[in-house]
Amino acid sequence: TGPATVSPTGQPTGASQSDIAQGGAYLTDAQGTRLHDTDHSLKAGPRGPVLLQDHHLREKITHFDHERIPERVVHARGAAAHGVFRGYGSAAQICKAAFLGKDVETPVFVRFSTVLGSRGSADTVRDTRGFATKFYTSEGVFDLVGNNIPVFFIQDAIKFPDVIHAGKPHPDREIPQAQSAHDTFWDFVTLHTEATHHTLWNMSDRGIPRSYRMMEGFGVHTFRLVDAEGGTTLVKFHWKPKLGVHSQVWEEAQITGGVDPDFHRRDLADAIEAGAFPQWELGVQTFPDNPEQTFEGIDLLDPTKIVPEELAPVQPVGLLTLNANPSNYFAETEQVAFHTGHLVPGIDVTNDPLLQGRMFSYLDTQLTRLGGPNFAQLPINRTHAPVNDMLRDGMHQTAVHRGVAPYRPNSLDGGCPFLAGAGDGAYVEVPAEVAAGRKVREAPASFDDHFTQPRLFWLSMTPVEREHIVAAYTFELGKCYEQAIKERALKVLARIDTELCEQVATGLGLPAPAAGEPLADPSPSPALSQVGQTWPPD
Ligand code: HEM
Repeated sequence: TGPATVSPTGQPTGASQSDIAQGGAYLTDAQGTRLHDTDHSLKAGPRGPVLLQDHHLREKITHFDHERIPERVVHARGAAAHGVFRGYGSAAQICKAAFLGKDVETPVFVRFSTVLGSRGSADTVRDTRGFATKFYTSEGVFDLVGNNIPVFFIQDAIKFPDVIHAGKPHPDREIPQAQSAHDTFWDFVTLHTEATHHTLWNMSDRGIPRSYRMMEGFGVHTFRLVDAEGGTTLVKFHWKPKLGVHSQVWEEAQITGGVDPDFHRRDLADAIEAGAFPQWELGVQTFPDNPEQTFEGIDLLDPTKIVPEELAPVQPVGLLTLNANPSNYFAETEQVAFHTGHLVPGIDVTNDPLLQGRMFSYLDTQLTRLGGPNFAQLPINRTHAPVNDMLRDGMHQTAVHRGVAPYRPNSLDGGCPFLAGAGDGAYVEVPAEVAAGRKVREAPASFDDHFTQPRLFWLSMTPVEREHIVAAYTFELGKCYEQAIKERALKVLARIDTELCEQVATGLGLPAPAAGEPLADPSPSPALSQVGQTWPPD
């Protein structure tokens, strides 16, 4: 790579990082002993059997055997870049986070990804794209772990394993949905109709972006910002690309996918290397923090809903510039660990049940993926703020901790760490009211409307965009083997728009159902009263 290369810590590549593994003029083993030969095993005579004694052979092969770590369970294929975020200061009224201050510059690392494909899959497939940003702020790491589509398939994280199982390659043949049978994906999204909105965005041109540099990004959930006086505002985060939003047409995506499956990662790296640094403005839609957490009748805790920009314009708060390619894919792009719980003072989560589940999932999966609890010490994950935690030992511990009393308070270590208040930069969760109620497995009634916003999206499309959407549904549903799934999908489309439904039905050679035909759910969740539990008990 050219001059734009930096080390995982965000510093220009100099001696320090590469010296760990590649210092000195001589080839050595892992202990630093110089080697005279790395091409021949130690044998009993030139044609003889290989000796067990050959430690260099065993070290070399053993290390190689363990080179791979598990790929991410989702978003396995990605490409990333370093950059800088500069705050405009325009958010200072509503958010005390230091990195949003005027002209404050914060190093960032951004990883773009597809969701469903494996690490070696093609970039250009129809899918959602991840847009995850790690801000190394002076107050700790803030991760904005978003997508290029502003809504999500499900309203509750408990369904995440289900939607991903339905979308991943078939368990029997391991053939990806994107290339073969599509029954499980369409089965899921037509039985869980809250997926209709996200699916429609996927079937639109947004599902096949031209470039990572030309995608919007969305935090999806509603977050809660806190100002210096403790006042709160609900927001949705948006990334707006300076290059505009562009897509491929389907035929183009097929050709680029065949000719260059690395199309998007190459495009990103080449642009940065050429000095054409991609930029995005970060913006927020703001909503008063009312007890209902609704805005213009839209439930802000429902991640399948947007708030139209006509109702709440996106207000720019800072500029992101990606200006350096990673110097090592594994050390940076593969080992980076994002988490919705990496928050800094001034930014808090809401009760969106999808976000609440994500707060658990990321750390849990990274314990396996990155081999134990110490991955925050990896250079790419290291905060740029001072760390003085009480976390000790564990697999892959590389810190040598001092002191004898890793607990607080203690009277032994001659200066036990201070605790801070909000005024000294402590992260204090907003003591938001928790609605009283019964402990139940239920969604609120405000989560029930699955079709109004998909209809708005469809009606906002130009004629050519509609043509693309019809073609996408026709093509993708045409890959289903099960007639019943195609018929159910048409009933869902009829609830979005009659014309959309009729055109796809024609493409599939099936009759269009009448609007409002019931969607048969083979196994609806029973109401609480039906499962034999009442409160207070009888
Ligand atoms: C990974 C976004 C919902 C579990 C990711 C990544 C992104 C992302 C961008 C890739 C991060 C990277 O580049 O390393 C989203 C968005 C969601 C969502 C925008 C909804 C609005 C969920 C839910 C769960 C989940 C509900 C589970 C309950 C995971 C896991 C990974 C992941 C396990 C892999 C993380 C790793 O191995 O480091 N997600 N996700 N996601 N997501 Fe989500």
